[in-house]
Amino acid sequence: MGKKLIIANWKMNLTVNEASLYVHKLDKLAGKLKHTEVVLAPTMLALQPLNMQVQHHHFNLAAQNFYWRDRGAYTGEVSAAQLRGVVQYGLVGHSERRHIFAERSKDIRSKVQAAVRNNIVPVLCIGETAQERADKETSDVIRDQLVGGLANITSVEVGQIVIAYEPVWSIGTGKFASPRDVERAVKYIRRQIEHLFGKVAAENVRVLYGGSVNLDNAMSYLQTAGVNGLLIGESSLDVYAFAGIIKKCEDMSSLPVKRGK
Ligand code: 13P
Repeated sequence: MGKKLIIANWKMNLTVNEASLYVHKLDKLAGKLKHTEVVLAPTMLALQPLNMQVQHHHFNLAAQNFYWRDRGAYTGEVSAAQLRGVVQYGLVGHSERRHIFAERSKDIRSKVQAAVRNNIVPVLCIGETAQERADKETSDVIRDQLVGGLANITSVEVGQIVIAYEPVWSIGTGKFASPRDVERAVKYIRRQIEHLFGKVAAENVRVLYGGSVNLDNAMSYLQTAGVNGLLIGESSLDVYAFAGIIKKCEDMSSLPVKRGK
């Protein structure tokens, strides 16, 4: 069993100084990690200084966003090529990018491809809105977002990426998905990946849950079959809560695996 992956998405919060202080504290609180890979997605401004500050055996970094062209006249944008070597991961297709900034499927698949081309692991975020859930369209939305997001990469590359299932209705609302719903969605995601890219890709791809994860509910997702980790917004802003989640993950993973008959 691989390490669990826990990603903190700070969104448009924390200044560069606050981010640096946070990392300092987290370093002390988290201690040595054996079973958990921790990734921080701070403001773009903090990536370079944090890249110098973090010890990469301890924490890795993710970009919250980037543009898919490598260079050129794109005022205000930062490319995956410019982030190469600074971050190890890049969020793509987050619901806030899809809904507030109107990112479309074709932007998202170009970004996934740009990340892969630049040695950055894309974290493709997918999930249904409350309306789509009420209309029983969750599976269709998941399938469409997978097909749309992964169209430009190979099955070997798909096996190396991360998919985050984040139902839109659960993001920042305190309404979290039940572990049963998450298990069902994650199974469906792997079935679709198998159908589109084969068994090996489906086994290798890491799938996370995100949406109102906190210190109290984190364990239930970490123990859910098929879930390789968490993508955390609000609760990751509190260094003590975030360190607490990491600690629970470490403790859980160090228990001997119970074998069935
Ligand atoms: P919350 O944990 O604040 O619900 O945010 C989830 C999220 O969007 C992580 O990317």
